[in-house]
Amino acid sequence: MLGPDTRVFNSCIFLSLMVVLIFQHGDNYRVRANSDRGFMQINGTFFVMNGKPVNLNGFNAYWMMLHAADPSTRNKVTAVFQQASKYGMNIARAWAFSDGGYRPLQSSPGVYNEDMFKGLDFVVSEAGKYGISMILSFVNNYEDYGGRKQ
Ligand SMILES: *[C@@H]1O[C@H](CO)[C@@H](O)[C@H](O)[C@H]1NC(C)=O
Repeated sequence: MLGPDTRVFNSCIFLSLMVVLIFQHGDNYRVRANSDRGFMQINGTFFVMNGKPVNLNGFNAYWMMLHAADPSTRNKVTAVFQQASKYGMNIARAWAFSDGGYRPLQSSPGVYNEDMFKGLDFVVSEAGKYGISMILSFVNNYEDYGGRKQ
């Protein structure tokens, strides 16, 4: 059994594994990994975007890719970004992993599910439309949706 302290410690490790990806308004479906714009940086104790300090206010919604990949639930992703934007939020964390098991991005090594990648693209695109930056987690420290063991 994991005690509360262990869970907090593991969560800190998990957070340190996350990669912050930023997508600007109107630049849907494009990750600008080689650009000097578009990715959050730090300066001292501040997050900085394009040289200017940014205050982050956001939410966690691990399920967005899963819902976006299903046409019958895709609209929930748009609704959440709309509502978050309305309340001044500017960052969201979502899962960008799902290995093996339930609705995988990668069902087995080298075998990919295009529908799930399109769902993830939709999430990133919608985030951009509403001016919301994304923290995309690429691995889970626990066992859900593949997890570290996968
Ligand atoms: C970091 O912030 C300081 C103080 O505001 C500023 O003088 C400096 O130019 C900034 N550095 C970068 C790399 O933006």
